[in-house]
Amino acid sequence: MALEITPLDAPLGAMVQGWNPKAELSSDDLGRLRQAMREHLVLVLRDHAPPTDAELVRFGQHFGELYNGSELFGLNSVPEILRINNVVDENGKAEGLLASSDLDWHADYSFMPVVGRESFLEAVELPRRDSPPTSFCSQYAALQRLPRAMVEMLRPRTPIHNIKAYKTSELNYVDTPDAEHPVILAHPDTGREILYVNRSNTRHIAGMPSDESDDLLKQLYAHQTQAEFVYDHQWQVGDFVVFDTLGTQHRRRAFNPAERRIMRQLSTTWTTPTNTQLAAE
Ligand SMILES: [Fe+2]
Repeated sequence: MALEITPLDAPLGAMVQGWNPKAELSSDDLGRLRQAMREHLVLVLRDHAPPTDAELVRFGQHFGELYNGSELFGLNSVPEILRINNVVDENGKAEGLLASSDLDWHADYSFMPVVGRESFLEAVELPRRDSPPTSFCSQYAALQRLPRAMVEMLRPRTPIHNIKAYKTSELNYVDTPDAEHPVILAHPDTGREILYVNRSNTRHIAGMPSDESDDLLKQLYAHQTQAEFVYDHQWQVGDFVVFDTLGTQHRRRAFNPAERRIMRQLSTTWTTPTNTQLAAE
């Protein structure tokens, strides 16, 4: 069955039906998915047979090299698949990451030197009541809507990202050094520019007094997550969302910890250029 791609009635996003995780993805279908992702940024694949871990990995590898996420976070899993869930074993040990707390706006792996390019998120099990949506917002639109003078002021700046300050007692993050990425990045596939700072992981802007940096980041955070750039995805069990995590941000609200929510997550990798490299181009 051919893939059927229908744009959502939202600022971004498209529904994709007809994916068969059991079959090898044809180059035709891969091309259509890549094209649809460039246009819509977030693709919701729905109504397919549940993929195995190996099938998810095989699908993700069509888009690029995959992050060994579970290795980074010390989870017991297929290396490429992050268990995002609040399941606790009989000894009280968390099986996955990020439990049920609020997970603020972020782009996957912005706190690492190698960041996420595409991400893949699948709903295996959802809370029966008050299942939290995942919200996505376009950072292409956010950049386009910034005043030109602001864009040029930002262009040579380098924000510092670090996951540390987000650490809470219930999360089990690894300790990673600061990561630096230009505040304005061009997507490697399309050359389209993105505003690349986020409230979860960006700490400060290098070389700027901290009060000035705080004010500027606050202003950018408010601008980049405006409702007009946002799509709220209401999950159905089995939904597999494929998204441009470089060009979007996403967030998840907290939910009742007594309810189970189980997701599988993967990301492709991209090494960002430095501002010095960009200026030399
Ligand atoms: Fe994420």
